[in-house]
Amino acid sequence: MEFTVNLGSKSYPIIIDRSIASRMPDILKTDFPKSRFALVTNCTIAKLYASMIDSWKSSLNLAVHEMPDGEQYKTIDTWEAILDFLIRNKFERSSVLIALGGGVVGDVAGFAASAFLRGIPFVQIPTTLLAMVDSSVGGKTAVDHPLGKNLIGAFWQPKRVFVDTAFLDTLPQNEFISGYAELFKYGFISGRAMFDFVKRNNDAMLNREPDVLLQGILKSVEAKADVVSQDEFETKGLRALLNYGHTFAHSLERFYNFSGVLHGEAVLWGMKCAYNLGKRIGTVASSDYSIFESVMASMPLPALPGKPDPESLYSMMFTDKKVESGKVRFIVPTTPGVSIVKGDIDSSDVIATLKEIFG
Ligand SMILES: NC(=O)c1ccc[n+]([C@@H]2O[C@H](COP(=O)([O-])OP(=O)(O)OC[C@H]3O[C@@H](n4cnc5c(N)ncnc54)[C@H](O)[C@@H]3O)[C@@H](O)[C@H]2O)c1
Repeated sequence: MEFTVNLGSKSYPIIIDRSIASRMPDILKTDFPKSRFALVTNCTIAKLYASMIDSWKSSLNLAVHEMPDGEQYKTIDTWEAILDFLIRNKFERSSVLIALGGGVVGDVAGFAASAFLRGIPFVQIPTTLLAMVDSSVGGKTAVDHPLGKNLIGAFWQPKRVFVDTAFLDTLPQNEFISGYAELFKYGFISGRAMFDFVKRNNDAMLNREPDVLLQGILKSVEAKADVVSQDEFETKGLRALLNYGHTFAHSLERFYNFSGVLHGEAVLWGMKCAYNLGKRIGTVASSDYSIFESVMASMPLPALPGKPDPESLYSMMFTDKKVESGKVRFIVPTTPGVSIVKGDIDSSDVIATLKEIFG
């Protein structure tokens, strides 16, 4: 399956299928006949997929750079090491950088592609569910700074994205659930059909039934591509909807000092908070409570490392980089599949919601 992210001259195809990665070298050789290819991955994926990478090395004459594994390496030092590798190997402006990995590899390699020789073509091959449904599409690239996540980066759209669901076979369950949170999220922001799809297929997707999961990933990627096409640089408010559940999630992650809870796990709790907040302030009509709650009940909520303190969670929301003029924006549901951004919610409603859930 293939469809396009429509961004004028920056449009690109997303090619989705099980085992599509095996066709990647032929597709790239056809699409970039005069280019040299560099691949950035991490040490975990390099080991798991060594024979696949070896076969790519011979068919594409690839030079491979391995970065260490982990969010703690999403740094300017890792970015600089990728640039060193590109410079030492005499890559050129026409060269293509391929990122093979989860969101961390994609973000830092994409940022390196955006900066090397003022920008070279970049291809994403996501290997986590989170990267497939979220980070590989949309062109946000970044590294973290000691004072905050993703503070240094660029918008740099890939030229191709290959989504191969066979990579998920080796993905640990907690990472799978973390990525599933982002897929589940589209059920709240991408229209009634997506809400119904998630409601109907939640269990099958959680059981990793290949065909249903592929459908869910396809629908998620289409939803993200649609938002990105309309709001590439996050200036029109549409892209903000992708942060459904994230205002709460970011403060949870900060509360636990980014340890013991994966991003998507925090997003699952964040979506529960967002729904309860919507219910409290009346954006959700009582006639819709039961349909929403039947979906919420199927959400795979993970255990948290300890009981979070509602007041601290609330104050941590103000350190989020998405806070504008001291106002925290929340995304709350209205009807199944539809959510809105609200910047004028009373602190007492937010704190009461946090107490209701964590109190
Ligand atoms: N650019 C964006 O729009 C965007 C959106 C959402 C998140 N992000 C970023 O994405 C990052 C999180 O991404 P992630 O959840 O993919 O984490 P990750 O990249 O750290 O991957 C999670 C773990 O899974 C391992 N892994 C990856 N693929 C595997 C596979 N197929 N089999 C076995 N293990 C595998 C990785 O080595 C790692 O240990 C964060 O840095 C976040 O800021 C970016």
